[in-house]
Amino acid sequence: MVDRLIIDTDPGVDDMVAIIAALHTPELDVVGLTTVGGNVPLEVTTRNALCILARVGRLDIPVYAGLTANHTAAHVHGDDGMAGCPWPVASVTAQEATAEEYLTGMLEKGGVTLACLGPLTNVAAVLRARPSLAGGLDEVVIMGGGFGTYAFEAGKGRVDSRGNVTGEAEFNIYSDVAAARTVFGSGVKVTVAPLDISQRTLVSRRRLGDLDVEVAGMLDRYADFSRDKWGHTDGPLHDPNVIAYLAEPDLYSGLKGTVRVSNEGRTDFDSGPGPHKVLLRVDEEGYLDWVWEHMGAAGLRKRGVAERRNVVLPWPAVTPYSGS
Ligand code: RIB
Ligand code: CA
Repeated sequence: MVDRLIIDTDPGVDDMVAIIAALHTPELDVVGLTTVGGNVPLEVTTRNALCILARVGRLDIPVYAGLTANHTAAHVHGDDGMAGCPWPVASVTAQEATAEEYLTGMLEKGGVTLACLGPLTNVAAVLRARPSLAGGLDEVVIMGGGFGTYAFEAGKGRVDSRGNVTGEAEFNIYSDVAAARTVFGSGVKVTVAPLDISQRTLVSRRRLGDLDVEVAGMLDRYADFSRDKWGHTDGPLHDPNVIAYLAEPDLYSGLKGTVRVSNEGRTDFDSGPGPHKVLLRVDEEGYLDWVWEHMGAAGLRKRGVAERRNVVLPWPAVTPYSGS
């Protein structure tokens, strides 16, 4: 059971799936959402977070608007951030308190787990203001970074898990390098679900055909970016990996050590003693089955719950990995 789970997010089509799956996972006690300007501006990510909660009848979850990172990805998620979302705007607004105020209050009480699905701008602001608040975090699990351990040839060239904004940097890290350095340097236990994971978790059109038609449409239009840029046939499903890891960690394996971030947003990893864990392998079908199962729990599938395969990955032998 993961209590006091806060999702920091920049919805974002893949964020939308992650949030809905989290809210339909009994093992996860989601107590609040904080929004960050990332994929699209803060006003839009905040509106989208409320819209997603309204769509699944969970406006009881409070939303706190935060800060804005340095880059957007509207070319990936569309100007509305949700690839043409047909859902109505929520009838409520975000809380008066800011994300920073909310996170500070929650960390003062302690025992918080943070799922970060966008740039780390909000978390870094809290830790910079009061570094001691790091003690209030049990774990931070982020979608971000890339370590170059996975690559494949797609229709228009080679896809490398090093980066998806530049050849060396992934969007969430690239969008606020200083924030990433603050979080990785805070001493907090950080688990990273990088592109090395999410570039393996591609969603086929067959699978899309098993989803609610509106959700499938948003995911399919979101996948067009990968098709246009790399010639993918199927689009990567990045953010729900954070939620699936929290709920079913045995779907993943990786290495422990220390993550470093360059000025350009490149992430490197030194295995060994350290507060970080980098996930490098995933049971791809098991992950997608998990996501589809929880979208089904939200009533957003066309058919019944898919059969789950229980493949337990052994953690790989610890081999020194220096990001070469
Ligand atoms: O690089 C992928 C990440 O950037 C995901 O979190 C996606 O939502 C975008 O924010
Ligand atoms: Ca995101």
